[in-house]
Amino acid sequence: MRSDCIPQRSSGLTFRDVSVSYAGRPVFSGVSFTIPAGGFACIIGPSGCGKTTVLRVAAGLVTPSSGSVHFADQALGRPRRDMAVVFQDYGRALLPWRSVAGNVSLALEAAGIPRPERADRIHELLKTVGLRDHARKYPGQMSGGMQQRLQIARCLAQEPRLLLMDEPFGALDAMTRQSLQDEILSIAASRDMTVLFVTHDLEEAIYLGDQVIALDANPGRVDRVIDVALPAPRDQLTTREDAQFVRLRRELHGLMHKEAA
Ligand SMILES: Nc1ncnc2c1ncn2[C@@H]1O[C@H](COP(=O)(O)OP(=O)(O)OP(=O)(O)O)[C@@H](O)[C@H]1O
Ligand SMILES: [Mg+2]
Repeated sequence: MRSDCIPQRSSGLTFRDVSVSYAGRPVFSGVSFTIPAGGFACIIGPSGCGKTTVLRVAAGLVTPSSGSVHFADQALGRPRRDMAVVFQDYGRALLPWRSVAGNVSLALEAAGIPRPERADRIHELLKTVGLRDHARKYPGQMSGGMQQRLQIARCLAQEPRLLLMDEPFGALDAMTRQSLQDEILSIAASRDMTVLFVTHDLEEAIYLGDQVIALDANPGRVDRVIDVALPAPRDQLTTREDAQFVRLRRELHGLMHKEAA
């Protein structure tokens, strides 16, 4: 995307001409995109092209070598209270010695929510992610899908305005994955969050996103930003059969395989 296409101010997430190098080796350069406030953008691209690095820059964990990153019209330079990150490796993100309720409570404690208010909030959050009846279990007693739901509940407890997700459903079976896709869409819509979601899965990117940012490797850069105008709410059967969905899948598949061709 050309940087002159990008609005000068945005209340969403804006990358403007961002370059990152690790130990002098460039990962990507000139990355520019804007996710409007409340928008849902998915990043796709070949392994090693820098998807996780884009997310780490947005999280304030990696400092770009040049360019600027803004969220809600403020420069991003360090982790913010109104952002939450869902990692792929949910096992390591949870505290095994705390119960399900205790893991969610942690985020509320960090936010200074008084104890009497916490129980109701925990109950509500666990209901949202379908874990209402599992509050007393420990992470080790739950399936991968349930642990990932718990990590999402913990992130939602922070009431983030910006939610960053790095291949969060990558290790899950197809059924669990689809149900979490629908949950995250409905949660994002009801809370007006801006979401940046990394995935390897082209269909997942089209299904979830209202924007798909396709990265290229060697050199790392934005290859294309595609708007997805599929109607909401999305539906696992009808959305995937929609002519636009099929056309976009073909287009993205062509982009991802052009080097192999
Ligand atoms: N901490 C680091 N130090 C040095 N190089 C790194 C570091 N993190 C990532 N890299 C390199 O930067 C490049 C981009 O890595 P990144 O993890 O962002 O890719 P990715 O697109 O997320 O890949 P994948 O799809 O495999 O998760 C890779 O070449 C990787 O080896
Ligand atoms: Mg990655």
